[in-house]
Amino acid sequence: MTRPLRPRRSQLSVPGSSEKMLEKAAQSRADHVFCDLEDAVAPSAKVGARAKIAWALNNLDWGKKTRCVRINDVTTEWCHGDIIEIVEAAGANLDTIMLTKPYTAADVIFLDRMLGQLEKKLKLERRIGIEVLIEEVQALQNVEEISRSTDRLECLIFGMGDYSGSQGIDTREIGDTGGYPGDIFHFARFRITMAARAAGLDAVDGPYANFKNPEGYKSEASRAKALGMVGKWAIHPAQIEPALEVFSPLPSEVANARKMEAAYRAAEAQGLGAVQVDGVMVDVAVLRLVKNTLDKADLYGL
Ligand code: COA
Ligand code: MG
Repeated sequence: MTRPLRPRRSQLSVPGSSEKMLEKAAQSRADHVFCDLEDAVAPSAKVGARAKIAWALNNLDWGKKTRCVRINDVTTEWCHGDIIEIVEAAGANLDTIMLTKPYTAADVIFLDRMLGQLEKKLKLERRIGIEVLIEEVQALQNVEEISRSTDRLECLIFGMGDYSGSQGIDTREIGDTGGYPGDIFHFARFRITMAARAAGLDAVDGPYANFKNPEGYKSEASRAKALGMVGKWAIHPAQIEPALEVFSPLPSEVANARKMEAAYRAAEAQGLGAVQVDGVMVDVAVLRLVKNTLDKADLYGL
């Protein structure tokens, strides 16, 4: 079973209780939109939001976006109802489900099995993928087991807000690293990205709450990108363009990568293992880095 490749440079969070914001999200430039049933929706509005999301999935024009629904976690009274109602009402117009707060692989397998049953019952032609949030200390400890829990899994997301709460990190604003000397989220991002890549999944960085601080947003996004993450959440439309900018290779980088690849291929044809391009050595290891850039350019249509 090969996993679908999807752009995830910008994943926009949209409260499922707001028809207006769902419409705005469908028209946005985000690669991926997740319609939220969890923390952006008050407990009293959660059940009603399911039908609003299903309507939006079935009736709005989402273009080429990945359409995702974020559900409540497996310890809540809403989880199974979220899965059943959303998939029964809009399963054919849904690409992935995002699971909040898993602790172990078993939590992800629960969702996998529910989806399998519903796909059979509804005779859905396409499989629904799974994305999971790593936002509990236990999940970070179990991240490798989680990353291999099911071949439906496509993406691991670092949820630094809940994660900070779970670990006891003293911060008041999601994305604020609390004066810690160094990057307080370095270990978690590194660990998640390593597990994701080893299992063939995408790693994505979570929210940055201050949507009026684009520089702070871009700085966090750039750290995530440097470690191999492919995108970051947007909690407000103002955060979409900064993510697209940070996570897309520049035209000059793509052109340079193509030049390096061509030079390497020409050298290889002459029996050489290494060649120089503008003073930089290119061998088969460098070609692998070049290929990462070119794969992104292909996926994003650059
Ligand atoms: N998706 C789609 N549209 C959004 C949006 C979102 N996440 N956030 C804001 N908008 C819309 C607003 O409705 C507004 O539309 P309008 O110009 O037609 O009136 C426009 O973008 C500008 O919004 P603004 O007035 O700057 O902010 P706001 O006060 O309406 O909303 C928040 C601010 C934080 C409440 C809102 O961005 C939000 O709910 N974000 C998502 C929160 C969330 O999903 N949390 C869980 C994941 S961490
Ligand atoms: Mg959370």
